[in-house]
Amino acid sequence: MNAKTNQGIMVNGQWRVPALSFGSPLLDFIRKEVGLTGTKEGCREGDCGACAVLMGEKLSDGTIRYRAIPSCISALGDFEGKHLITIEGLTADSKEGLTPVMRAFLDENASQCGFCTPGFIIALTAWLAEPRTLDIAGAITAVDGNLCRCTGYGSIRRAAEKLCRDFADLPLDPKKRLAALVEREVLPKSVLAFLDGVGSMQNSPATAGIKPAESAVLIAGGTDYYVRNPYPTQQFSPVLLRTLGHLSEIREIQDQFGHHVSIGSAVTIHDFFTSKLVQQAVPGIETYETQFASTLIRNIATIGGNIANASPVGDVTAMLMGLGALLCIGVPEDSSKQEARVVPIEKFFLGYKKIDLQPQEAILAVRLSLDNAPAHPLLFSFEKIAKRKKLDIAAVNTAISFKIENGHFTSVRISAGGVAPTPILLEKTAQLLEGKLCNRCDAKGLAELAQQVSAAAESEVKPISDVRGSADYRKRMTGRLVLAHFARLFAKDGITEELFP
Ligand SMILES: Cc1cc2nc3c(=O)[nH]c(=O)nc-3n(C[C@H](O)[C@H](O)[C@H](O)COP(=O)(O)OP(=O)(O)OC[C@H]3O[C@@H](n4cnc5c(N)ncnc54)[C@H](O)[C@@H]3O)c2cc1C
Ligand code: FES
Ligand code: FES
Repeated sequence: MNAKTNQGIMVNGQWRVPALSFGSPLLDFIRKEVGLTGTKEGCREGDCGACAVLMGEKLSDGTIRYRAIPSCISALGDFEGKHLITIEGLTADSKEGLTPVMRAFLDENASQCGFCTPGFIIALTAWLAEPRTLDIAGAITAVDGNLCRCTGYGSIRRAAEKLCRDFADLPLDPKKRLAALVEREVLPKSVLAFLDGVGSMQNSPATAGIKPAESAVLIAGGTDYYVRNPYPTQQFSPVLLRTLGHLSEIREIQDQFGHHVSIGSAVTIHDFFTSKLVQQAVPGIETYETQFASTLIRNIATIGGNIANASPVGDVTAMLMGLGALLCIGVPEDSSKQEARVVPIEKFFLGYKKIDLQPQEAILAVRLSLDNAPAHPLLFSFEKIAKRKKLDIAAVNTAISFKIENGHFTSVRISAGGVAPTPILLEKTAQLLEGKLCNRCDAKGLAELAQQVSAAAESEVKPISDVRGSADYRKRMTGRLVLAHFARLFAKDGITEELFP
């Protein structure tokens, strides 16, 4: 326990040095070691939100932020130097014994058996803490990773609506907002202690105290790893990518001389989609964020993890392939910062779950071009077919990007996932579109072109049948999703009526 050097974790109001190994799931530390059982274990695979807790951390720009994360698939070691708030910790300083979020649940009868309730309260508390204007759509997105089996969502929605009204005047400045939430007993006073006293663990020598075993497993967000390995051994000591103090750029998004944007591989999915720099490189990318998993997962899952996991249907992987991303690969523990090798993302996948990585190597960063002149901006679309609208892995996904220069399609790239052992580029289909006339006044002509490109995509893929869909279904969906790209990108030109009369 040592607040001055920040060793350990601030658990609610107190610093603790965990006895469990740093590769243990955070949930086991909370329930078994600290004995706080308000945080529930439901699915243990990131699907239900019952295990949600708040993670407070200091960012590289000095801001402190609190986010809700699923503790069942988060590594304990990732919390070194951070503030963990469980459901018990929320009420530490409350006169009533309930926070306003809990009070809203009580008033609106938003809890029945109560098993899911701590997770919902945590998710909505994190939503209040995010410095932006409150609305019900935002509240619903905040709980898109929380399941309730008995109350029903109507009353939970009413509780969130009440919070929207009651907290409409929260300041937008991050620090003032946290202070206001402490003042109104939404957050405990330990938040102020953390704000005042915390140093950045990520860059401090204390983090170097985490010593992984030789040739250890590498974990970034853990959202794929812990689902496959839910009960690691007591001695499990992985390399936690985000705690490597000498590699701060692995957690950052940087403008590289206005030429490209470099996205550190340990950047979370949420930070990727909300980054102004990424949005500058890919206008409109933020609209696709909620197609990926849930808020809880997006708060910890990383860009590099999505690529290295090598799922044929990784959503961000399909997007990055459609955008022509380059991967910077090197040895993360090599503090000499040797030049990374650069690999086009489509060349990284060698076969089913086989990737171009040597034993000690990792993806360090992903590069996207910033060559996006206002005269001919990049047009981008992503589509995904899954059984459920939220929190589901795709049966098929695809992304397209191109520019329109002098009235012609240029720099066309089309990716597809779920149609081969690896995510793939549809090169023949892209070639068909490259250089074609794009007459935006001729909706009929554009629709005919879209039909040709869709048919080409359908014949270029050779999927297999599995639980998520038959080969024939996947082929047809690839064609339909390509049509959907055109419908989205040329909606203003009247193409939708031509394609789907
Ligand atoms: C409930 C739930 C819903 C999900 N929904 C979606 C979804 O909608 N779409 C989707 O695409 N995925 C989804 N996923 C899968 C997962 O969240 C993503 O693939 C995520 O991006 C993985 O990132 P991570 O940092 O958590 O990976 P980790 O679990 O940390 O790592 C995954 C693998 O990649 C390796 N690895 C991680 N980072 C690197 C690196 N920088 N260099 C080399 N190797 C590395 C690890 O060793 C491990 O083998 C979901 C997962 C869950 C649990
Ligand atoms: S226990 Fe279900 S998300 Fe963690
Ligand atoms: S109140 Fe019972 S599961 Fe939600």
